[in-house]
Amino acid sequence: MEFKRYTVTSALPYANGPVHIGHLAGVYIPADIYARYLRSRDKDVVFIGGSDEHGVPITIKARQQGVSPQEIVDKYHTMIKQSFEEFGISFDIYSRTSNKVHHDTAKEFFLNLYKKGEFIEKNSFQYYDETHQQFLADRYITGTCPHCGNDNAYGDQCEKCGTSLNATDLINPRSAISGNTPVLKETKHWFLPLNNYEEFLKEWILVNHKDDWKTNVYGQCKSWIDQGLQPRAVTRDLDWGVKLPEEIKDSNGKVLYVWFDAPIGYISATKELTTEWEKYWKDKETKLVHFIGKDNIVFHCIIFPVMLKAEGSFILPDNVPANEFLNLEGDKISTSRNWAVWLHEYLIEFKNK
Ligand code: 2FM
Ligand code: ZN
Repeated sequence: MEFKRYTVTSALPYANGPVHIGHLAGVYIPADIYARYLRSRDKDVVFIGGSDEHGVPITIKARQQGVSPQEIVDKYHTMIKQSFEEFGISFDIYSRTSNKVHHDTAKEFFLNLYKKGEFIEKNSFQYYDETHQQFLADRYITGTCPHCGNDNAYGDQCEKCGTSLNATDLINPRSAISGNTPVLKETKHWFLPLNNYEEFLKEWILVNHKDDWKTNVYGQCKSWIDQGLQPRAVTRDLDWGVKLPEEIKDSNGKVLYVWFDAPIGYISATKELTTEWEKYWKDKETKLVHFIGKDNIVFHCIIFPVMLKAEGSFILPDNVPANEFLNLEGDKISTSRNWAVWLHEYLIEFKNK
């Protein structure tokens, strides 16, 4: 099919550290080449980037450094944006999810789904650190992955096997703040019933995209769908993030799950770029392509498409090219282990040489 226009997105890096050459090789250079190619053919294209400024990766970094989350995101957003500019990644916009337009857009998206009755609202028991009097969402909790045995799986995902998890799936859970064994405490959350969308996902991915998605992407999707999907909490008890709309009962003190708000960041950034944003997101003659790293596959191929489908007025991605991780001297690049060639340092070394 010949498309009228193209929306090209590249994963929004967490603003909790600088970007490295693994990010570049896996996501930003491929996306940049594609955007430049389309422009060279006189296509109508928007190339979207931005910083992901919510979620536990940010608050953990702030806690480690004894500063506020806002200070962390201000520092790293500025640094990342400048590195991309100097490297020549040709974004049409490089935005950030702490912007008001993003908070408004993400809240409205959540409220639309809420009003359509798309969420299951229920009390459940979640892990809680009694010493720090805090619920332990996502990366605040670590434990053994029930699928592959990795001892350092997070509460929402095992990075080793890529499986998306609920914190209560972890074996031997530990608080990442205190190292203590957490207790379970009751709290209310809003769940997206992914299981109601199994038939849609089977048809859309396993039938329609069997031949045009990369085999690593298709294979991961197939394995998740074959395992059967579960309702997934899209809210968290945290004080950093997009607050739930006030009109929702019991929403006080809750924020959107970072993986609910972050992909909406692509839409908010397009809104910021142009008043004609809707044609890039709502017209079937637009081709939407998400460039991502392999640990982002489930979020872009299962959860975000279900959100878009449930909302009803948006197009779905036509392709989601995800690359494997780049190794450095045979070892996986890692921000937390400081094993990387950082882009800002690379630029100092090599720019103008
Ligand atoms: O893995 C990451 O670095 C995430 N911050 C990617 C988010 S992509 C999009 F959804 F915003
Ligand atoms: Zn695992």
